Amino acid sequence: MKKEARKAVIAGNWKMNKTPAEAAALIEEMKPLVKDADCEVVLCVPYVDIAAAVEAAKGSNIKIGAENVHFKASGAYTGEISAEMLTASGVEYVIVGHSERRTYFGETDQTVNLRTLAALNAGLKVIVCVGKTLEQRELGYTETLLKYQTKMALTGVTAEQLKNVVIAYEPVWAIGTGVVATDDQADEGNGFVRAAVAEAYGEAAAEAITVQYGGSMNAKNAEGLLGKVNVDGGLIGGASLKAADFSVIVGAASK
Ligand code: 13P
Repeated sequence: MKKEARKAVIAGNWKMNKTPAEAAALIEEMKPLVKDADCEVVLCVPYVDIAAAVEAAKGSNIKIGAENVHFKASGAYTGEISAEMLTASGVEYVIVGHSERRTYFGETDQTVNLRTLAALNAGLKVIVCVGKTLEQRELGYTETLLKYQTKMALTGVTAEQLKNVVIAYEPVWAIGTGVVATDDQADEGNGFVRAAVAEAYGEAAAEAITVQYGGSMNAKNAEGLLGKVNVDGGLIGGASLKAADFSVIVGAASK
C-alpha cells in the first residue's frame, strides 16, 4: 500500500485547555474551516469537555476523542474513566501513552498496553503515542526504543484490531518546545515505528497503518512534514487550539 492509500489522520490534542463552553465555541469556529477535509479530523479533548464537544461536532466531519482511558471496566478507581463511559458519550478516538502521561503520571509500557487493549475491545480507535528523549536520541537509541515501545504497546492486539490503531511518533524534545523535528527526522522516526509493525504483523499491515508525527507541528511546517513518505498525519498540541492554524494543517494533509 502506498502512502496515498493510507488514511491521513490529523488529530488535535487539547491537553488541559478549554472549558466546555470554550470547547463548543472553538469547534463551531473550526467546522466550516475543515468541512472539505480529505483526511480524518479528530479533536481529543479533556473529559469534562466531551459532552459539549460531541454536541458541537454533530453533523460535521469532526470526530471527538479523549486524552486517556482506564484499563478496567469499572470499580474502585477514583478519578478514572472507562472505555465504555467514553463510547457511551459519543467518543470515537482515544490517545494512549502520551509522553506527558508517561513523564508526569507514571504511565509505563505495561499500562499503555493495558489501556490500548481496553480501548480497542470497547470499539474505540486508539492513537498510541511513542517517543524518546533527546538524551536517548543522542545515545543512538532511537530505533531500538521506538521499536520496543511500539511492540510493547501493541502486545496482544490482533491483526484485525490493528486496523483501529494509529501510532503517533512524538519526540519528547519537540513537544511544546517550538523545536520541531526536521522533515527527515520525523520520516525516520515514523519509519522505525512502521518497521516495528512489520516485524510484529507483516509488511502489509505495516504499509496500511497510519503513523502520525507530533511535536510542534504548526501551520508553517505541516506541509513539509506531511509530505514525507512515512508521515501520514499529525498529533497537534498548541496549534490545535487555534482554528485558523489547525485548519491549515488539515488542508496540508488533504493535498
Ligand atoms: P505541541 O504541538 O504543542 O508541541 O504538542 C504536541 C503534542 O504533544 C501532541 O500530542
